[in-house]
Amino acid sequence: MGEAQKTFQGPRHHTSLKKPLWLVLTVSVLSMLLISTHMFSRQGKRSSSDSLSSWLPVHVRKLTDEEVAARAVVREILKTPPSITQNSKIAFLFLTPGTLPFEKLWDEFFKGHEGKFSVYIHPSKERPVHISRYFSDREIHSDEVAWGRISMVDAEKRLLVNALEDPDNQHFVLLSESCIPLHSFDYTYRYLLYSNISFIESFVDPGEHGTGRHMEHMLPEIAKEDFRKGAQWFTMKRQHAIIVMADGLYYSKFRQYCGPGIEADKNCIADEHYLPTFFSMLDPMGISNWSVTYVDWSERRWHPKTHTANEISLEFMKNVTSEETSTHVTSVGEHGDELHWPCTWNGITRPCYLFARKFHPDALDKLVNLFPNYTNTAA
Ligand SMILES: *[C@@H]1O[C@H](CO)[C@@H](O)[C@H](O)[C@H]1NC(C)=O
Ligand SMILES: *[C@@H]1O[C@H](CO)[C@@H](O)[C@H](O)[C@H]1NC(C)=O
Ligand SMILES: *[C@@H]1O[C@H](CO)[C@@H](O)[C@H](O)[C@H]1NC(C)=O
Ligand SMILES: *[C@@H]1O[C@H](CO)[C@@H](O)[C@H](O)[C@H]1NC(C)=O
Repeated sequence: MGEAQKTFQGPRHHTSLKKPLWLVLTVSVLSMLLISTHMFSRQGKRSSSDSLSSWLPVHVRKLTDEEVAARAVVREILKTPPSITQNSKIAFLFLTPGTLPFEKLWDEFFKGHEGKFSVYIHPSKERPVHISRYFSDREIHSDEVAWGRISMVDAEKRLLVNALEDPDNQHFVLLSESCIPLHSFDYTYRYLLYSNISFIESFVDPGEHGTGRHMEHMLPEIAKEDFRKGAQWFTMKRQHAIIVMADGLYYSKFRQYCGPGIEADKNCIADEHYLPTFFSMLDPMGISNWSVTYVDWSERRWHPKTHTANEISLEFMKNVTSEETSTHVTSVGEHGDELHWPCTWNGITRPCYLFARKFHPDALDKLVNLFPNYTNTAA
C-alpha cells in the first residue's frame, strides 16, 4: 500500500517541476475526468439505456421512415396471440429440384395423422414422381432456383404464402429433398405447435463467410453488427410467416446486395443471412437461434456431409435424436470455430433435432426399416 503510494507521488512531483508538458497533460486529463464525471452524474438521473445510447453513437441512429413503418407492422402482428385448436396443422414445405427420394419414409411418418398436417412442394427443376398419396398433387406454382441467389428466398416465400392460405396451418417447416424425420409425428407435432418460439438459426460468424459478407450498400437499415448467419432450414410460427410476407424493406436489401459476386470476392448467400438477420433485429426473443434440422459440417466444405446407407445404424440414429447441444460452425481461422448452444424448449432442456440432413437416396430402405426403432423414444 505504502509502496504504491510512494511510486505514485514520486514521479508526479518530479515531472510537474521539470517537464511542463507533463503538467499540461495531467491538467487536461484531470479536466476531462471532471467533465465526464459531471456528465455521468447528470445522466445517472436518467435511465441507464438513455445514458448508454448517448455514449454509443450507433444506437442513436435515426430510423428511416420505412424502418419506423416496418417495425410498427411487426409489433402489431406479434401482438396477435397464436390460436391453437383441435384443427391446427403443421405445414411441411418441401423445397426440391424434383422427385423426393424419401417419400416412402415421410409416408410412414405421416400415416395415421391425417388432418394434423399439410404438404406443399416447390419443384424447381422437374415435376416429381410420387409414391405417397400425401404428396400427390401437392405441387405449388414454382420457378427456377439458383443456389445462393435470392431466387432461393423467393421459393421459400412462395411456399409460405401458399401454406398461409389455409388458416389451420399454425407452424411451417422448410425441408429439402435430402431431409428425413427423426421422431414420431406426435412428438414432432407437440414440439413445434406448443413451442412459444420459431426455430430459426441465427448467430454471429465474425469470419469471411459471416460478417465478412456484409455490404456497405445495406446501410443504414442493416448495420454490420446486426448481420447474422444461420441455416436455411427453419420452422416458424404463423405470426412469423406473416411478418416475412409483410417485409419489403429488409428483403429488398438482400435482393439487391446479397448474392455471389455482387461485390468483388464477397459471396453473400441470401438464404443464409436474410431471415437470421431479419429476425434477430425485429424479434430476437421470438427465435431459438439454433436449428431443429441436424447437419454435419465436420468436413468443413461448401456443402455438408451426405450420409450413405453404410454409415447408418440404430446407434447413429439414436445419437442424433438424443443430442441436446447444437453446434454452429463459423468461418474464423483456417478450419472454423465451433460454437455450442444448449437446446431448450419452453425453458426445459430437450433434444435439439426433429429432422436431419443430408442423406443419400441409397439410405432409404435402411431408414424405413429402422424408423419404428429410432423414433420409439421409450426404447
Ligand atoms: C437469440 O439471440 C438473441 C441475440 O441475437 C437474444 O437476444 C435472444 O434472447 C436469443 N433467443 C433465445 C430464445 O435465447
Ligand atoms: C455416438 O456417440 C458417441 C458419444 O458421442 C460416440 O462415441 C459414437 O461414436 C457415436 N456413434 C455413432 C455411430 O455415431
Ligand atoms: C417462452 O417460454 C420460456 C419459458 O417459459 C420463457 O422464458 C420465454 O420468455 C418465452 N418466450 C416467449 C417469446 O414468449
Ligand atoms: C427394431 O424393433 C423390432 C421390434 O421391437 C425388433 O424386433 C428389431 O430387432 C429392432 N431392430 C433393431 C435393428 O434393433
